[in-house]
Formats: sequence, C-alpha cells, structure tokens
Amino acid sequence: MSSYEDFHRRSIEDPEGFWGEQAQMIHWHKPPQKVRDYSKPPFCKWFVGGETNLCYNAVDRHLAERANQPALIYISTETDEEKVYTFAELHREVNRFAAVLQSQGLQKGDRVIIYMPMIAEALFAVLACVRLGAVHSVVFGGFAAYNLAVRIDDAKPKLMITSDAGMRGGKAVPYKHLVDESCSLAKFPPEKVILINRGLVKDMAITEGRDLDYATLRAQHMDAEVPITWLESNEPSYILYTSGTTGIPKGVQRDTGGYAVALASTMKHLYAVNPGETMFATSDIGWVVGHSYIIYGQLINGSATILYEGLPTRPDAGIWWKIVQDYKVRSMFSSPTAIRVLKSQDPKYMRMYDISCLRYLFLAGEPLDEPTSRWITDSLQIPVIDHYWQTETGWPMLSYLPGVDLKPNRFGSPGFPVYGYDIKVISEGTGEEVPRGDKGVLVVVPPLPPGCLSTVWGDDKRFVQSYFSSFKEMLYTSSDWAVRDEDGYFFILGRTDDVINVAGHRLGTREIEEAIQAHSAVAEVAVIGVADSVKGQVPVGFCRLRDPTLLDEPGAEARLEKEVIGKVQELLGAVAKPHRVHFVNALPKTRSGKLLRRSIQALAEGRDPGDLSTLDDPNSLEEVRRAVGH
Ligand code: PRX
Repeated sequence: MSSYEDFHRRSIEDPEGFWGEQAQMIHWHKPPQKVRDYSKPPFCKWFVGGETNLCYNAVDRHLAERANQPALIYISTETDEEKVYTFAELHREVNRFAAVLQSQGLQKGDRVIIYMPMIAEALFAVLACVRLGAVHSVVFGGFAAYNLAVRIDDAKPKLMITSDAGMRGGKAVPYKHLVDESCSLAKFPPEKVILINRGLVKDMAITEGRDLDYATLRAQHMDAEVPITWLESNEPSYILYTSGTTGIPKGVQRDTGGYAVALASTMKHLYAVNPGETMFATSDIGWVVGHSYIIYGQLINGSATILYEGLPTRPDAGIWWKIVQDYKVRSMFSSPTAIRVLKSQDPKYMRMYDISCLRYLFLAGEPLDEPTSRWITDSLQIPVIDHYWQTETGWPMLSYLPGVDLKPNRFGSPGFPVYGYDIKVISEGTGEEVPRGDKGVLVVVPPLPPGCLSTVWGDDKRFVQSYFSSFKEMLYTSSDWAVRDEDGYFFILGRTDDVINVAGHRLGTREIEEAIQAHSAVAEVAVIGVADSVKGQVPVGFCRLRDPTLLDEPGAEARLEKEVIGKVQELLGAVAKPHRVHFVNALPKTRSGKLLRRSIQALAEGRDPGDLSTLDDPNSLEEVRRAVGH
C-alpha cells in the first residue's frame, strides 16, 4: 500500500495516469479516448469520448454478481416501515419509474425537479432520470414555495416529481401545496407533476391534466425494461442548487463519468467500504451529501445504502446505533450538529447496541468542535474522521484516508488534501501562499479533479466569476478561511463570504435578507450567523423599520418579530427561519454604505467588533449592543 504522500503526489504530478487507473473502477460502454482535456481553462473535461451512465453503474452492473444482495435499505421511524430492496428489486423499481417518465415524453437532456421526502421512491426517481439521460435537480424538502419557484425558473423542468407529504417527529409536513404554489409563482412551470401519494394529507388539491398519480402509472409498467441512454462522460447528470453571495442560488452542474469515477474511488480509498458492505449517511437527499453518499456512492460501489426517514432521537436516541447493529453498517457519515444532539441525551443510548461492525464515523458540513469530537470518539471507540468539502466539489477535498494510509488524527483538523486536489492557503490581499500557521483563503489550483462542478447551470460566466476570479492567478476559491500547521494538517476557520452554516445546512444570508425585506414594514435588514451550541450557527436578523413608531404600542415588538420570522418561513421554509429578529434604529455600515456584517456578528456573540475605522455612524453599534443585550 502506498503512503498518503505518494498517493497524493502521483495524483497531482501524473493526473492522467492516476485518473486513468481510477476510471477502471466503473463500467464504460465506450472507453474514454482522452483522460483529460484542459484546453479551455478553467473548464475541464474528464474522460473525453467515454460513454457511461450513472444508473447502469449503480444498478444494472451489479445484477450479475449481487442481484440478491441488499442495495437500498429503507427505514422510516415516522411511518414504521422497514424494507430492504435487493439490486434486482431496485432494478425493477427503477425501470418502472423510468418507463413512467418516458410515457410522459421525458427525453435525454430534459430537466426534472424532484421535491421529495426521504422515501424509496425519491431514489428510484433520481436513478430513473439518469437512466434516461435526463437531468435531475433535487430540491431539499425543507425549502418553501419561493425557493422552489426560483429553481424552477432556472432549470425549466419538463416534469416535477413530488409527494403529498414528508413526516417529521410524528407529524405530516405537507409538500404538495408548496409545489402548487411554486408552479403559480414560476414563469416556467413544468407540464406535469408526478405525485407519490402516501395518503398522509386529507383533501389534497389536484390540478386536473397536470397532476399524475404515480401508483396508477406504475401499475401500467410493471414489467418495463427501459434501455440505458449512454452519455458522453461530460454530459450533465444533475443540477444541485446551492447558496452563494447573491440572493440567487447557483446551479452546480455535475458531469457523468468524472462523478462516477470520483465516487467509486472515494468508496475504496476514503470511506473504506467494500462491495457488499453497508454505509449509512444520515443526511438528506436534498443536499450534496445525500446525492454522493446516500444515493450514488454506495450503489456504484456495489454496497448497500440506508435511506432513513426520521429523527436521530425518535423513538429514542439509540435509533441510529440500532440501525448500525441491525444492518452491520461498516462506515457511517453524519454531521457535527447531529452528534451534538446525541451528546445532550442520556449516554445509556450509546451502549445499548452491539456496534462492533462499525469501523469509521465520518463527519462533515460544518466545523467539528473538540468537545464533540472527543465525546463521540470516546463513546464509539473508533476513528472519528472530520472531513471537508462542498456542494461544488461533490466529494471530499480534505480528509484522512483510511483506505490508503490513515494518519493520526489531530483534533479540529479535517486532515490533508485528498488526492486530485492541489490545495493551497493564500493571502486574500496578495494572492501569494501564506507561511505555515498563517490564516488565508483555501484555494484549489485548477483544473479541478473529476466529479467537481463542470459549470454553473446555464451560466459559464458566473462559474468563472464566482469561483476563479478572486485572485490574479486563476485559482478555484473555496470561500473558506483556512490555516495549515507545521505538519501539514489543515484547519477550517469559517467562510469568507455571506454564507452561513445552520445545523450543517448551507444558507445564504442574502436570501434570508431578501425574504425579510418582503415584509412591508422593513426598510433595511442585515442577517448574520450567530454561534449556537447545538446547530453551530443560527441566523439572526437586525431590521430597521420604515416607521419606528410602529414599535411604540405595547407588545408590538414581539408581534412584528413573529411576523418577520413567519415571512421567512413562508418564502424560504423552516430551515432558513431566523432564530431572533431584533429591531434597531440604525445598522452599522461603512461610509460607502456596505453593511459591517462581521462587526454585527461579533457584537451579537459578545466579542470585540474589530476594525471600525470605516464605520459611518457610531450610534449604530450601540443600537446593536442594546438589541442583543451585551
Ligand atoms: O464552509 C465549509 C463548510 O461547509 C461548506 C460547504 O457546505 P455544502 O456546500 O453544504 O457542502 C457540504 C459537504 C459536506 C464549506 O465551504 N464545511 C464543510 N465541511 C466542513 C466545513 N467546515 C468545517 N469543517 C468541515 N469538515
């Protein structure tokens, strides 16, 4: 086995040789003619001329060797269901779904928005799309109608697939009416909406001629076999929207072959899961972790995946460990927030089940604090691996590599650059590499490795501007601060932009500000992320009202706060709801009118507001201090 250093070095110095070898881990209908084409920086094509298909690699390919082995383990503690689909059964369901989509005229390149709870049909739908060469865009179920409408208008889907409701904490969370609303808000609504009806919502409105019942259509295609549509490696597989600095989310466009190769290689080298074994990721299919390590990674590898609908604490805080025991989970993937939730429960739940099958717990999505890391390491007595990546990259950028050479863990560090990534920490001002131990921006020297975003959907210019134009040299910016210590360990110190991280969910403060501004009483608003002991960060809003006398009435402040929070929930969904909204008479700004978000954040967290040399109105600081009570 090679050392980490050799492995990484080879991937950077001989990318064509390295990735040419990794490419052999997947099935190619037609082998690539060229490993890499970087003739048009920063755009990079991988495995040019090769033809493959994600659904074939995830499903059909395994029928010969493991048709009767588990592929998808669906567990819902919300509806008390538990069902194991073998690869053969998964193949049947995906073919039925693909036939239904085909019967509605879906063709290669068409977009499909999938707005679904964590049910097996969501995974069938995703795989059915890529089987046909259609481009899926899964939208997280916690987002509301406005968010959906923005994504509809960007992706212009031919079809939408949804469900009547999700379930959370024993209660139905209706989805369908949000789809109806989003379709009336959108300029380019889909022709048809396919509805998976779980029977959770009474008197659901149905739009005749547009809404189609999936169960009825499925019954017409029980024996369907839908041929694979082979795609050139660089043709798109999906769009996944993510927050950035502006109020409009970016459609991260993923290729096909590069993504399949990258995921296959991480299953072996990083997550150390063999075909036939099980990996359990506790994320949601609406996020990138769900795409890469609930849906595609495991299945491409011939491993089983677990799709869990439910809370980590219901029926009790032992539920995840029961799942680990029952399905012999080998590697698990979760978020620091979820672990902090478990840490606040009775420790007996950590000892109730035999989880000796579990080899590694991977955590990502937000900083892993040392107390949480120590607690979970002590509780599980296995390596707990913090690793770092982004929606854009689709797979880890910094990590430890148990499948290659596991370096000793250093608390607070997500380890080292993963093979394929040439990572540097550079000065924001000069663009030069900073000395070890100094803070800078984490960048990747392009080209990005296979599987990372190929562009921003429909907007090549935005791709170049958002990611490759921050420095004089063309470098991919992660928009994260980082520091690298003397021994090469990396540490992530938070975002350089206005993105915040709430319970591992990435949210743009600009989007929340725009939603708050939709309230007619609000003149101006700043939203910042404030440290929270469980969720990492929570959004907090500071509003200046058009008419401050509105607050004079007794009880007005609490009522307005509720209204403003309600506005965000209505437009964006519960996931983006501010924790608090404060009303102030002035917001700290520079003389040129730029909001001093970092100062506001510092004050809200009871810290020093930092450099205030450009502050316009000193009273505004007092306003914030007064509002937060520091
Ligand atoms: O700020 C970093 C933070 O989450 C951002 C990416 O979020 P998202 O696109 O949702 O992708 C999550 C994929 C796991 C990053 O820019 N982040 C992610 N992992 C870590 C992290 N911050 C600190 N430590 C991590 N391990």
